[in-house]
Amino acid sequence: MEKIKLNNGILMPCIGLGVYRMDNTETSENIIKYALSNGYRHIDTASYYDNEEIVGKAIKESEVKREDIFLTTKVWNEDQRQSRVLKAFETSLKKLDTEYLDLYLIHWPVADKIEQTWEILSKLYEQGKIKAIGVSNFKQHHIERLQKCSPIVPVVNQIELHPYFNQRELVNYCLEHHIQPVAWSPLGASKTNLLEEAILKNLAKKYNKCPAQIVLRWNFQNHVVSIPKSSNKERLKQNISIFDFELTKDEMLQIDSLNSNKRLGADPDTFDF
Ligand code: A2P
Repeated sequence: MEKIKLNNGILMPCIGLGVYRMDNTETSENIIKYALSNGYRHIDTASYYDNEEIVGKAIKESEVKREDIFLTTKVWNEDQRQSRVLKAFETSLKKLDTEYLDLYLIHWPVADKIEQTWEILSKLYEQGKIKAIGVSNFKQHHIERLQKCSPIVPVVNQIELHPYFNQRELVNYCLEHHIQPVAWSPLGASKTNLLEEAILKNLAKKYNKCPAQIVLRWNFQNHVVSIPKSSNKERLKQNISIFDFELTKDEMLQIDSLNSNKRLGADPDTFDF
């Protein structure tokens, strides 16, 4: 598994298992264990997903050591209150049954809470309770507000990103500022027919891969980390087998041409908090 160095020196595996929409059941727990025993070393959850317990259980019961796993969770919008962030953090630790987090993110930019929440996360980071802190669903103007309240630069910005919505400007801004872009819904698969696109199918045929692997490789070559969700053993294995081929410049551009600048998820500026 390839890893990328974040701006504070810690290493993040370039493919993670996103567990949004995995329910808090033994079936999901078994899928996460299966992922760990087949090479996954990066799991992305959130308190909002309501599955931190099974993530914690799967990690505990897997043969992989905790320190070899990169574990991310996020502080939910309603917990972005002075009196609630610390409690939310402690609750996540408890549910995940872990002493520390590798990465804690602000899940969405709650317009009037950004600075306050970032200051609290910065303190937790300085106290060593989290190895890194970052943000999710932030646009450039949200990120700029962080610079005014804390010297700590977020290590990542986790955003909706797939070939139909490639967010090139925001990705470039993040890379220029040493903020690692992480793509949620990288396959756009649950809401579109992206993986049926002829461009992707033709490239898949050429490289003896599947369309999802072509998309994940495109992200990797664009210096973007992906966290695809799958509850299927075969697809889980496919999604981390992307490090043995390389798309040409022209093929990267072909995939870029699928961009339609349309979000599948909420717009961070108008999301109803
Ligand atoms: P499943 O869990 O049945 O594999 P995203 O994270 O981009 O939103 O994508 C998640 C969706 O993509 C899920 O519906 C998942 O279904 C599907 N998916 C995950 N990996 C693959 C793959 N390699 N090929 C096709 N579909 C996939």
